[in-house]
Amino acid sequence: MNGMRYRGAGATCIYVLALLACGSPEADRQGPAATHDAVVIAAPDTTAGARLYQAHCAACHMAKGGGVPGLNPPLRQTDWVTGAPEQLIRIVLEGQSGPIEVNGQAYDSQMPGFPHLGDTVVAQLLSYVRTSFGNSASPIEGKMVSDARVNLAPKED
Ligand code: HEC
Repeated sequence: MNGMRYRGAGATCIYVLALLACGSPEADRQGPAATHDAVVIAAPDTTAGARLYQAHCAACHMAKGGGVPGLNPPLRQTDWVTGAPEQLIRIVLEGQSGPIEVNGQAYDSQMPGFPHLGDTVVAQLLSYVRTSFGNSASPIEGKMVSDARVNLAPKED
């Protein structure tokens, strides 16, 4: 009976691990017993930016920014991620749809905007993206987000 329960828990851990760190060579080498420890040890970056990325972006762009081929573009070394901050901020605030080419691959899909996220939140999130997944672009500051927001949606009054 215990054996059954154990196997059940192991399978759950493997599933969680696959979501968090898919393709990790560590996980391949270790058996299910060690897999649970691997989840804890490999518990990723818990900075605010990392948590925000996992909460808002990882479902589509994947935990490590690799994207989903043909569906959701990667966030590694792309012109949008490492280029002009205003453009990147615009994508997050307003979303992005229609045909684009990212690192030589065509996408024609839709990303929702995140206009409800505050300036600091967007800045932390995008600073994380610009300095993770092999990217080394300058961080984004809250002021840049508020400036971009004003330009995107001019106040009506
Ligand atoms: C529902 C899925 C989804 C979510 C959630 C999402 N995106 Fe996207 N994202 C997309 C798709 C799809 C595209 C390409 C849209 C197109 O084809 O025009 C895209 C494009 C992009 C691009 C421009 C292309 C590139 O890869 O450089 C950036 C940058 C980006 N997303 C960043 C983010 C960030 C940051 C978040 C979290 C705040 C996020 N996305 C959340 C689906 C998503």
